[in-house]
Amino acid sequence: MPVQLSNDQLTRVANEFGTPVYIYHAEKIQEQYQKLKTAFQKSDARFYYAAKALTNINVLRYIHSLGAGVDCSSINEVKLALYSGFHPSEVLYTANGIAFSEIEEAQSLGVKINIDSLSNLEKFGKRFAHSYPVGIRLRPNIMAGGNLKISTGHDKSKFGIPVGKIDQIVSLKNQYNLCISNLHIHTGSDIDDADVFIRGIEVLFEIIPSFEELQSVDLGGGFKVPYKKEDKELDIFRLGEKVFAMFEKYEKAGGRKLQIWFEPGKFLVSQCGYFVTTVNVLKETSATTFAGVNSGFNHLIRPMFYDAYHYIENISNPGGALKKYSVVGNICETDTFAWERELNEIREGDYLVFFNAGAYGFEMSSNFNSRFKPAEVMIKDGNAFLIRKRDEFDDLLEKQVKVF
Ligand SMILES: Cc1ncc(COP(=O)(O)O)c(C=O)c1O
Repeated sequence: MPVQLSNDQLTRVANEFGTPVYIYHAEKIQEQYQKLKTAFQKSDARFYYAAKALTNINVLRYIHSLGAGVDCSSINEVKLALYSGFHPSEVLYTANGIAFSEIEEAQSLGVKINIDSLSNLEKFGKRFAHSYPVGIRLRPNIMAGGNLKISTGHDKSKFGIPVGKIDQIVSLKNQYNLCISNLHIHTGSDIDDADVFIRGIEVLFEIIPSFEELQSVDLGGGFKVPYKKEDKELDIFRLGEKVFAMFEKYEKAGGRKLQIWFEPGKFLVSQCGYFVTTVNVLKETSATTFAGVNSGFNHLIRPMFYDAYHYIENISNPGGALKKYSVVGNICETDTFAWERELNEIREGDYLVFFNAGAYGFEMSSNFNSRFKPAEVMIKDGNAFLIRKRDEFDDLLEKQVKVF
């Protein structure tokens, strides 16, 4: 039986808490985490959940309870992770383009750090020398990921220190007696090809000998999950076998024993999430029939931002005749969730559910058009818990200062 929420469960939550509402299914996160553990059981692998995908503290606490660490992309994510119960040793801070003061703050909090520029590496050397082990984020010059906006390892990417600058990295290491404990790469998101990771490991194997104190290599996240029914998913078990074989061979040839880290975001929380909206208006036009829902790209930006596909279902009329609809939002710009999508007949008031809404859904939402951010609900052991209240009017005013 696939671990997923039924139409009845989703409808009950929507009736109780109103819409639009994000719903997360704890057992699905657990299932995904278990897959990772199984796939990499032969290796000394650690998983640092990429918190940027979804930072609700209840989700963080739940993922911590499963045994994962957490990867953060800002100092505030680091603080949320610590607040949620992660020990500093379980927290990794992989930032890019940040002020050195944030690195100093992360160091004072005792978390692991991956540095992504030569200038910050030099500042780190001057300030901490050998006293605080540190990781380096490299740009391996590998093109990967679902689209250019989510490709991060290619030769025009802003992320990481280009691997071609290895001599400068080593010379800074020697100059300041840096303790380089981790090498990190993250080539992109929505990666469906295990060989991308293999190529990344090959790049790392070339340079590992330059780092005598290395403890781990961090291969980032990006495991593709299916958004469309026919989507190819990254074969995590095949990847697990390949990674194990590579490191086993490397060790047999005299290489050092290293931990292998991953930073999965979507893999852990994409499929656990459902975004339920209500149809406000139906509008027949010569081009299409619009189904306008009580949401927009202010709540789920992925379709407009990345052309991302989200599977949609009309859970209020699952037996209705199939017809084509264009599902749109209610904000003041074009915000098309789906164009000419075949859906069961829609009536005003029906609930439309967007699947795979856990990762980068609520997290990228905003108050554009002065609309409220949705509520978030978590379902665990069959019970629904409100884990974030829907905004109220006062929230829109809270940080504004009435001067004039
Ligand atoms: C450094 C880093 N690690 C991990 C991730 C997680 O990627 P995904 O959600 O595709 O697994 C990201 C995504 O942007 C990232 O930038």
